[in-house]
Amino acid sequence: QTGAVTFDPGFMNTAATTSAITYIDGDEGILRYRGYPIDQLAQHSSFLEVSYLLIYGNLPTPTELDAFDQRIRRHTLLHEELKGFFGGFPRDAHPMPVLSSAVSALSTFYQDSLDPFDDEQVELSTFRLMAKLPVIAAYAHKKSIGQPMLYPDNSMNLVENFMRLCFGLPAEPYDLDPLMVKALDLLLILHADHEQNCSTSTVRLVGSSNANMFASISAGINALFGPLHGGANEAVLNMLREIQAKGMQPEDFMEKVKNKEDGVKLMGFGHRVYKNYDPRAKIVKATAHDILSRLGGNDELLDIAMRLEEKALADDYFIERKLYPNVDFYTGLIYKAMGFPEKMFTVLFAIGRLPGWIAQWREMIKDPQTKIGRPRQLYTGAGERQYPAR
Ligand code: SDX
Repeated sequence: QTGAVTFDPGFMNTAATTSAITYIDGDEGILRYRGYPIDQLAQHSSFLEVSYLLIYGNLPTPTELDAFDQRIRRHTLLHEELKGFFGGFPRDAHPMPVLSSAVSALSTFYQDSLDPFDDEQVELSTFRLMAKLPVIAAYAHKKSIGQPMLYPDNSMNLVENFMRLCFGLPAEPYDLDPLMVKALDLLLILHADHEQNCSTSTVRLVGSSNANMFASISAGINALFGPLHGGANEAVLNMLREIQAKGMQPEDFMEKVKNKEDGVKLMGFGHRVYKNYDPRAKIVKATAHDILSRLGGNDELLDIAMRLEEKALADDYFIERKLYPNVDFYTGLIYKAMGFPEKMFTVLFAIGRLPGWIAQWREMIKDPQTKIGRPRQLYTGAGERQYPAR
Protein backbone atom coordinates (compact mmCIF):
# COMPACT_ATOMS: atom_id res chain seq x y z
CA GLN A 1 0.00 0.00 0.00
CA THR A 2 1.10 3.55 -0.49
CA GLY A 3 3.22 4.48 2.52
CA ALA A 4 1.86 7.60 4.21
CA VAL A 5 5.26 9.21 4.62
CA THR A 6 5.61 12.53 6.42
CA PHE A 7 8.94 14.28 6.71
CA ASP A 8 10.38 17.49 8.01
CA PRO A 9 9.93 20.20 5.32
CA GLY A 10 13.40 21.33 6.35
CA PHE A 11 14.60 18.20 4.56
CA MET A 12 13.87 20.02 1.31
CA ASN A 13 16.03 22.93 2.37
CA THR A 14 19.14 21.03 3.40
CA ALA A 15 22.38 22.48 2.06
CA ALA A 16 23.09 21.14 -1.43
CA THR A 17 26.76 22.09 -1.42
CA THR A 18 29.49 24.21 0.15
CA SER A 19 30.54 27.36 -1.64
CA ALA A 20 32.86 30.32 -0.98
CA ILE A 21 31.34 32.65 -3.56
CA THR A 22 28.14 34.31 -2.29
CA TYR A 23 26.67 34.68 1.19
CA ILE A 24 22.98 35.37 1.82
CA ASP A 25 21.26 35.89 5.17
CA GLY A 26 17.57 35.65 4.27
CA ASP A 27 16.31 36.82 7.65
CA GLU A 28 18.55 39.88 7.79
CA GLY A 29 18.38 40.63 4.07
CA ILE A 30 22.17 40.39 3.62
CA LEU A 31 23.90 39.62 0.30
CA ARG A 32 27.70 39.58 -0.16
CA TYR A 33 29.84 38.58 -3.18
CA ARG A 34 33.12 37.08 -1.92
CA GLY A 35 32.51 38.97 1.35
CA TYR A 36 31.78 42.39 -0.19
CA PRO A 37 28.26 43.74 0.67
CA ILE A 38 26.09 44.21 -2.40
CA ASP A 39 25.31 47.87 -1.59
CA GLN A 40 29.03 48.75 -1.59
CA LEU A 41 29.61 46.95 -4.88
CA ALA A 42 26.52 48.61 -6.38
CA GLN A 43 27.82 52.02 -5.34
CA HIS A 44 31.53 51.71 -6.20
CA SER A 45 32.16 48.79 -8.58
CA SER A 46 31.40 47.85 -12.19
CA PHE A 47 29.91 44.73 -13.75
CA LEU A 48 33.31 43.78 -15.19
CA GLU A 49 35.03 44.21 -11.82
CA VAL A 50 32.30 42.23 -10.03
CA SER A 51 32.58 39.50 -12.69
CA TYR A 52 36.32 39.27 -12.03
CA LEU A 53 35.69 39.21 -8.25
CA LEU A 54 33.16 36.37 -8.51
CA ILE A 55 35.26 34.26 -10.89
CA TYR A 56 38.72 34.76 -9.33
CA GLY A 57 37.79 35.44 -5.70
CA ASN A 58 39.38 38.86 -5.17
CA LEU A 59 39.01 42.39 -6.53
CA PRO A 60 41.37 42.91 -9.49
CA THR A 61 44.16 45.47 -9.60
CA PRO A 62 43.60 48.11 -12.32
CA THR A 63 46.04 46.16 -14.53
CA GLU A 64 44.24 42.88 -13.94
CA LEU A 65 40.88 44.48 -14.63
CA ASP A 66 42.13 46.01 -17.87
CA ALA A 67 43.58 42.67 -19.02
CA PHE A 68 40.27 40.96 -18.16
CA ASP A 69 38.33 43.60 -20.12
CA GLN A 70 40.69 43.44 -23.13
CA ARG A 71 40.62 39.65 -23.27
CA ILE A 72 36.81 39.66 -23.28
CA ARG A 73 36.84 42.18 -26.15
CA ARG A 74 39.01 39.82 -28.21
CA HIS A 75 36.37 37.11 -28.08
CA THR A 76 33.23 39.02 -29.08
CA LEU A 77 33.09 37.75 -32.68
CA LEU A 78 30.70 34.84 -33.24
CA HIS A 79 31.69 32.12 -35.74
CA GLU A 80 30.02 33.19 -39.01
CA GLU A 81 28.20 29.86 -39.29
CA LEU A 82 26.75 30.39 -35.82
CA LYS A 83 25.22 33.66 -37.05
CA GLY A 84 23.27 31.58 -39.56
CA PHE A 85 21.79 29.74 -36.59
CA PHE A 86 19.38 32.61 -35.89
CA GLY A 87 17.72 32.19 -39.28
CA GLY A 88 16.38 28.83 -38.19
CA PHE A 89 14.13 30.26 -35.48
CA PRO A 90 10.65 31.68 -36.06
CA ARG A 91 10.64 35.46 -35.95
CA ASP A 92 8.42 35.54 -32.84
CA ALA A 93 10.65 33.09 -30.96
CA HIS A 94 11.20 34.09 -27.33
CA PRO A 95 14.91 35.05 -27.04
CA MET A 96 15.51 32.80 -24.01
CA PRO A 97 15.29 29.44 -25.89
CA VAL A 98 17.30 31.06 -28.70
CA LEU A 99 19.95 32.02 -26.12
CA SER A 100 20.12 28.58 -24.49
CA SER A 101 20.26 26.84 -27.89
CA ALA A 102 23.01 29.09 -29.25
CA VAL A 103 25.05 28.82 -26.02
CA SER A 104 24.78 25.04 -26.19
CA ALA A 105 25.86 25.20 -29.85
CA LEU A 106 29.05 27.06 -28.81
CA SER A 107 30.44 23.64 -27.79
CA THR A 108 30.24 22.58 -31.46
CA PHE A 109 32.10 25.65 -32.74
CA TYR A 110 34.74 25.90 -30.02
CA GLN A 111 35.77 22.29 -29.47
CA ASP A 112 39.25 23.34 -28.32
CA SER A 113 37.93 24.54 -24.95
CA LEU A 114 35.66 21.79 -23.67
CA ASP A 115 37.88 19.90 -21.24
CA PRO A 116 36.68 20.84 -17.72
CA PHE A 117 39.99 19.70 -16.19
CA ASP A 118 42.33 21.71 -18.45
CA ASP A 119 42.83 25.12 -16.78
CA GLU A 120 43.70 26.87 -20.05
CA GLN A 121 40.56 25.50 -21.74
CA VAL A 122 38.42 26.54 -18.75
CA GLU A 123 39.89 30.06 -19.02
CA LEU A 124 39.20 30.08 -22.77
CA SER A 125 35.58 28.98 -22.23
CA THR A 126 35.21 31.65 -19.54
CA PHE A 127 36.24 34.46 -21.88
CA ARG A 128 34.34 33.07 -24.84
CA LEU A 129 31.12 32.93 -22.78
CA MET A 130 31.59 36.35 -21.14
CA ALA A 131 32.16 37.87 -24.59
CA LYS A 132 29.75 35.92 -26.78
CA LEU A 133 26.65 35.47 -24.60
CA PRO A 134 25.79 39.21 -24.71
CA VAL A 135 26.34 39.17 -28.49
CA ILE A 136 24.04 36.16 -28.89
CA ALA A 137 21.48 37.91 -26.68
CA ALA A 138 21.63 41.05 -28.83
CA TYR A 139 21.32 38.99 -32.02
CA ALA A 140 18.25 37.22 -30.61
CA HIS A 141 16.74 40.65 -30.00
CA LYS A 142 17.61 41.92 -33.48
CA LYS A 143 16.14 38.73 -34.98
CA SER A 144 12.87 39.32 -33.09
CA ILE A 145 12.52 42.87 -34.47
CA GLY A 146 13.68 42.04 -37.99
CA GLN A 147 16.72 44.28 -37.88
CA PRO A 148 20.25 43.50 -39.15
CA MET A 149 22.84 42.18 -36.73
CA LEU A 150 25.87 44.44 -36.26
CA TYR A 151 29.42 43.23 -35.77
CA PRO A 152 30.80 43.98 -32.30
CA ASP A 153 32.97 47.10 -31.86
CA ASN A 154 35.88 46.15 -29.64
CA SER A 155 36.67 49.75 -28.82
CA MET A 156 33.73 49.37 -26.39
CA ASN A 157 33.51 47.28 -23.22
CA LEU A 158 31.01 44.46 -22.62
CA VAL A 159 28.06 46.62 -21.51
CA GLU A 160 28.63 49.38 -24.09
CA ASN A 161 28.97 46.84 -26.90
CA PHE A 162 25.79 45.09 -25.83
CA MET A 163 23.81 48.34 -25.83
CA ARG A 164 25.13 49.18 -29.31
CA LEU A 165 24.42 45.69 -30.67
CA CYS A 166 20.84 45.93 -29.35
CA PHE A 167 19.99 49.47 -30.37
CA GLY A 168 22.52 50.40 -33.07
CA LEU A 169 21.79 50.34 -36.81
CA PRO A 170 24.26 49.90 -39.69
CA ALA A 171 22.92 53.01 -41.39
CA GLU A 172 23.81 55.46 -38.68
CA PRO A 173 26.32 55.99 -35.84
CA TYR A 174 25.15 54.89 -32.40
CA ASP A 175 25.64 57.38 -29.57
CA LEU A 176 26.01 55.61 -26.24
CA ASP A 177 23.88 57.13 -23.48
CA PRO A 178 26.14 57.09 -20.39
CA LEU A 179 23.08 57.05 -18.11
CA MET A 180 21.70 53.95 -19.84
CA VAL A 181 25.10 52.23 -19.69
CA LYS A 182 25.50 53.06 -15.98
CA ALA A 183 21.93 51.93 -15.17
CA LEU A 184 22.38 48.62 -17.00
CA ASP A 185 25.81 48.12 -15.42
CA LEU A 186 24.21 48.50 -11.97
CA LEU A 187 21.40 46.04 -12.75
CA LEU A 188 23.91 43.49 -14.07
CA ILE A 189 25.92 43.81 -10.82
CA LEU A 190 22.76 43.12 -8.79
CA HIS A 191 22.04 39.94 -10.78
CA ALA A 192 25.61 38.60 -10.92
CA ASP A 193 25.24 35.77 -8.40
CA HIS A 194 22.85 34.54 -5.75
CA GLU A 195 24.22 31.30 -4.22
CA GLN A 196 22.34 28.11 -4.96
CA ASN A 197 19.21 29.44 -6.71
CA CYS A 198 17.37 27.22 -9.18
CA SER A 199 19.43 28.11 -12.28
CA THR A 200 22.80 28.04 -10.48
CA SER A 201 21.99 24.68 -8.91
CA THR A 202 21.13 23.50 -12.42
CA VAL A 203 24.50 24.68 -13.75
CA ARG A 204 26.30 22.85 -10.93
CA LEU A 205 24.21 19.68 -11.27
CA VAL A 206 24.70 19.43 -15.04
CA GLY A 207 28.40 20.29 -14.68
CA SER A 208 28.83 17.59 -12.03
CA SER A 209 28.52 15.02 -14.84
CA ASN A 210 31.70 16.62 -16.33
CA ALA A 211 29.54 18.27 -18.99
CA ASN A 212 31.41 21.21 -20.54
CA MET A 213 30.82 24.82 -19.42
CA PHE A 214 28.72 25.76 -22.48
CA ALA A 215 26.33 22.84 -21.96
CA SER A 216 26.03 23.56 -18.23
CA ILE A 217 25.33 27.27 -18.70
CA SER A 218 22.79 26.47 -21.43
CA ALA A 219 20.90 24.33 -18.90
CA GLY A 220 21.03 27.18 -16.38
CA ILE A 221 19.49 29.55 -18.97
CA ASN A 222 16.59 27.14 -19.41
CA ALA A 223 16.02 26.97 -15.65
CA LEU A 224 16.13 30.77 -15.38
CA PHE A 225 13.37 31.06 -18.00
CA GLY A 226 10.76 29.77 -15.54
CA PRO A 227 8.27 32.49 -14.45
CA LEU A 228 8.82 31.67 -10.77
CA HIS A 229 12.54 32.36 -11.24
CA GLY A 230 14.12 34.70 -13.77
CA GLY A 231 10.95 34.94 -15.83
CA ALA A 232 9.35 36.90 -12.96
CA ASN A 233 10.66 40.29 -14.15
CA GLU A 234 8.71 39.88 -17.40
CA ALA A 235 5.68 38.59 -15.42
CA VAL A 236 5.76 41.69 -13.16
CA LEU A 237 5.38 44.03 -16.10
CA ASN A 238 2.57 41.91 -17.55
CA MET A 239 0.87 42.10 -14.14
CA LEU A 240 1.23 45.91 -13.93
CA ARG A 241 -0.04 46.32 -17.50
CA GLU A 242 -3.09 44.16 -16.73
CA ILE A 243 -3.92 46.28 -13.67
CA GLN A 244 -3.47 49.45 -15.74
CA ALA A 245 -5.46 48.17 -18.74
CA LYS A 246 -8.39 47.05 -16.56
CA GLY A 247 -8.30 50.27 -14.56
CA MET A 248 -8.07 48.16 -11.40
CA GLN A 249 -7.24 49.64 -8.04
CA PRO A 250 -4.21 47.96 -6.41
CA GLU A 251 -6.50 46.99 -3.55
CA ASP A 252 -8.75 45.04 -5.93
CA PHE A 253 -5.79 43.17 -7.37
CA MET A 254 -4.49 42.40 -3.89
CA GLU A 255 -7.84 40.85 -3.00
CA LYS A 256 -7.51 38.56 -6.02
CA VAL A 257 -4.04 37.56 -4.85
CA LYS A 258 -5.13 36.93 -1.27
CA ASN A 259 -8.12 34.90 -2.47
CA LYS A 260 -5.72 33.01 -4.76
CA GLU A 261 -8.11 33.60 -7.66
CA ASP A 262 -6.83 31.59 -10.65
CA GLY A 263 -3.60 31.02 -8.71
CA VAL A 264 -2.64 34.66 -9.26
CA LYS A 265 0.43 35.82 -7.32
CA LEU A 266 1.94 39.22 -6.70
CA MET A 267 4.84 38.68 -9.10
CA GLY A 268 8.12 40.15 -7.93
CA PHE A 269 7.18 39.40 -4.32
CA GLY A 270 8.35 36.54 -2.11
CA HIS A 271 11.56 34.56 -2.10
CA ARG A 272 12.76 31.08 -1.17
CA VAL A 273 15.46 32.55 1.06
CA TYR A 274 14.75 36.22 1.78
CA LYS A 275 12.08 36.48 4.46
CA ASN A 276 12.97 40.17 4.60
CA TYR A 277 13.36 42.88 1.99
CA ASP A 278 15.64 41.63 -0.85
CA PRO A 279 18.65 44.02 -0.57
CA ARG A 280 18.82 44.15 -4.37
CA ALA A 281 15.19 45.31 -4.59
CA LYS A 282 16.01 48.15 -2.15
CA ILE A 283 18.84 49.34 -4.41
CA VAL A 284 16.74 49.08 -7.59
CA LYS A 285 13.81 50.90 -5.98
CA ALA A 286 16.09 53.70 -4.79
CA THR A 287 17.41 54.24 -8.32
CA ALA A 288 14.20 53.47 -10.22
CA HIS A 289 12.69 56.91 -9.76
CA ASP A 290 15.95 58.63 -10.72
CA ILE A 291 16.55 56.44 -13.77
CA LEU A 292 12.92 56.55 -14.95
CA SER A 293 12.71 60.32 -14.53
CA ARG A 294 15.82 60.75 -16.68
CA LEU A 295 14.97 58.03 -19.19
CA GLY A 296 11.31 59.04 -19.37
CA GLY A 297 9.91 55.75 -18.16
CA ASN A 298 6.27 54.89 -17.64
CA ASP A 299 5.62 56.56 -14.32
CA GLU A 300 2.05 55.29 -14.16
CA LEU A 301 3.24 51.66 -14.01
CA LEU A 302 5.85 52.69 -11.43
CA ASP A 303 3.12 54.36 -9.37
CA ILE A 304 1.01 51.19 -9.56
CA ALA A 305 4.06 49.15 -8.43
CA MET A 306 4.78 51.53 -5.55
CA ARG A 307 1.13 51.41 -4.42
CA LEU A 308 1.06 47.60 -4.63
CA GLU A 309 4.22 47.44 -2.53
CA GLU A 310 2.87 49.92 0.01
CA LYS A 311 -0.36 47.90 0.38
CA ALA A 312 1.41 44.54 0.55
CA LEU A 313 3.93 45.63 3.19
CA ALA A 314 1.04 46.72 5.44
CA ASP A 315 -1.16 43.68 4.79
CA ASP A 316 -1.29 40.80 7.27
CA TYR A 317 -1.53 38.22 4.46
CA PHE A 318 1.93 39.27 3.22
CA ILE A 319 3.38 40.02 6.63
CA GLU A 320 2.42 36.60 8.02
CA ARG A 321 3.98 34.91 4.97
CA LYS A 322 7.07 37.16 5.06
CA LEU A 323 6.51 38.25 1.50
CA TYR A 324 8.65 41.23 0.45
CA PRO A 325 9.66 42.67 -2.95
CA ASN A 326 12.44 40.68 -4.61
CA VAL A 327 14.93 41.78 -7.24
CA ASP A 328 12.38 41.31 -10.03
CA PHE A 329 9.75 43.72 -8.73
CA TYR A 330 11.20 46.95 -10.13
CA THR A 331 13.80 45.87 -12.69
CA GLY A 332 11.35 45.38 -15.56
CA LEU A 333 10.22 49.01 -15.34
CA ILE A 334 13.81 50.16 -15.82
CA TYR A 335 14.53 47.71 -18.65
CA LYS A 336 11.38 48.95 -20.38
CA ALA A 337 12.47 52.57 -19.96
CA MET A 338 15.79 51.65 -21.56
CA GLY A 339 13.90 50.47 -24.64
CA PHE A 340 14.10 46.69 -24.15
CA PRO A 341 10.99 44.68 -25.06
CA GLU A 342 9.56 42.57 -22.22
CA LYS A 343 10.79 39.34 -23.86
CA MET A 344 14.36 40.57 -23.31
CA PHE A 345 14.04 41.11 -19.54
CA THR A 346 15.01 37.56 -18.54
CA VAL A 347 17.78 37.60 -21.14
CA LEU A 348 19.20 40.63 -19.30
CA PHE A 349 18.97 38.64 -16.07
CA ALA A 350 20.96 35.84 -17.77
CA ILE A 351 23.70 38.27 -18.91
CA GLY A 352 24.00 39.52 -15.33
CA ARG A 353 24.00 36.02 -13.83
CA LEU A 354 26.60 34.66 -16.25
CA PRO A 355 29.71 35.45 -14.15
CA GLY A 356 28.03 33.84 -11.16
CA TRP A 357 27.18 30.72 -13.13
CA ILE A 358 30.77 30.55 -14.43
CA ALA A 359 32.24 31.08 -10.95
CA GLN A 360 29.97 28.41 -9.45
CA TRP A 361 30.72 25.92 -12.26
CA ARG A 362 34.48 26.49 -11.86
CA GLU A 363 34.20 26.03 -8.08
CA MET A 364 32.17 22.83 -8.51
CA ILE A 365 34.49 21.26 -11.12
CA LYS A 366 37.51 21.92 -8.84
CA ASP A 367 35.77 20.35 -5.83
CA PRO A 368 37.22 16.85 -5.27
CA GLN A 369 34.05 15.99 -3.38
CA THR A 370 31.97 16.64 -6.48
CA LYS A 371 30.59 13.38 -7.66
CA ILE A 372 27.90 13.25 -10.29
CA GLY A 373 24.96 15.13 -8.80
CA ARG A 374 22.54 12.45 -7.75
CA PRO A 375 19.97 13.71 -5.23
CA ARG A 376 18.18 10.95 -3.27
CA GLN A 377 14.44 10.95 -2.47
CA LEU A 378 11.93 9.85 0.12
CA TYR A 379 9.81 7.21 -1.63
CA THR A 380 6.09 7.78 -1.10
CA GLY A 381 4.70 5.35 -3.67
CA ALA A 382 3.17 1.86 -3.40
CA GLY A 383 4.82 -0.81 -1.30
CA GLU A 384 5.96 -4.06 -3.04
CA ARG A 385 3.14 -5.72 -4.97
CA GLN A 386 2.96 -9.05 -6.86
CA TYR A 387 2.01 -9.10 -10.54
CA PRO A 388 -1.47 -10.70 -10.72
CA ALA A 389 -1.54 -14.28 -12.02
CA ARG A 390 -3.72 -14.39 -15.20
C1 SDX B 1 14.24 34.96 -8.24
O1 SDX B 1 16.49 31.69 -5.37
C2 SDX B 1 16.91 32.81 -5.76
O2 SDX B 1 17.86 33.36 -5.26
C3 SDX B 1 16.17 33.39 -6.95
C4 SDX B 1 16.57 34.80 -7.33
C5 SDX B 1 17.97 34.84 -7.87
O3 SDX B 1 18.60 35.91 -7.79
O4 SDX B 1 18.41 33.82 -8.44
O5 SDX B 1 16.49 35.66 -6.21
C6 SDX B 1 15.67 35.35 -8.42
O6 SDX B 1 13.84 33.96 -8.77
C7 SDX B 1 13.35 35.79 -7.35
C8 SDX B 1 11.91 35.21 -7.25
C9 SDX B 1 11.11 35.71 -8.46
N1 SDX B 1 9.80 35.04 -8.50
C10 SDX B 1 8.66 35.74 -8.30
O7 SDX B 1 8.61 36.93 -8.00
C11 SDX B 1 7.39 34.91 -8.51
C12 SDX B 1 6.40 35.19 -7.37
N2 SDX B 1 6.99 34.61 -6.14
C13 SDX B 1 6.51 33.32 -5.74
O8 SDX B 1 6.23 32.41 -6.76
C14 SDX B 1 7.24 32.75 -4.53
O9 SDX B 1 7.36 33.77 -3.63
C15 SDX B 1 8.58 32.07 -4.69
C16 SDX B 1 8.47 30.86 -5.53
C17 SDX B 1 9.60 33.00 -5.26
C18 SDX B 1 9.05 31.66 -3.30
O10 SDX B 1 8.11 30.86 -2.74
P1 SDX B 1 8.20 30.57 -1.14
O11 SDX B 1 8.74 31.72 -0.43
O12 SDX B 1 8.90 29.28 -0.97
O13 SDX B 1 6.75 30.51 -0.70
P2 SDX B 1 5.80 29.30 -0.96
O14 SDX B 1 5.69 29.03 -2.43
O15 SDX B 1 6.13 28.18 -0.05
O16 SDX B 1 4.45 30.00 -0.46
C19 SDX B 1 4.28 30.32 0.93
C20 SDX B 1 2.95 31.07 0.98
C21 SDX B 1 1.86 30.40 0.13
O17 SDX B 1 0.61 30.75 0.67
P3 SDX B 1 -0.12 29.64 1.68
O18 SDX B 1 -0.13 28.32 0.91
O19 SDX B 1 0.73 29.61 2.92
O20 SDX B 1 -1.51 30.22 1.91
O21 SDX B 1 3.13 32.39 0.43
C22 SDX B 1 2.31 32.51 -0.72
C23 SDX B 1 1.99 31.11 -1.20
O22 SDX B 1 0.78 31.10 -1.93
N3 SDX B 1 3.09 33.26 -1.71
C24 SDX B 1 2.59 34.28 -2.41
C25 SDX B 1 3.67 34.75 -3.19
N4 SDX B 1 4.77 34.01 -2.93
C26 SDX B 1 4.41 33.08 -2.03
N5 SDX B 1 1.34 34.81 -2.46
C27 SDX B 1 1.20 35.85 -3.33
N6 SDX B 1 2.17 36.37 -4.10
C28 SDX B 1 3.41 35.83 -4.06
N7 SDX B 1 4.37 36.34 -4.82
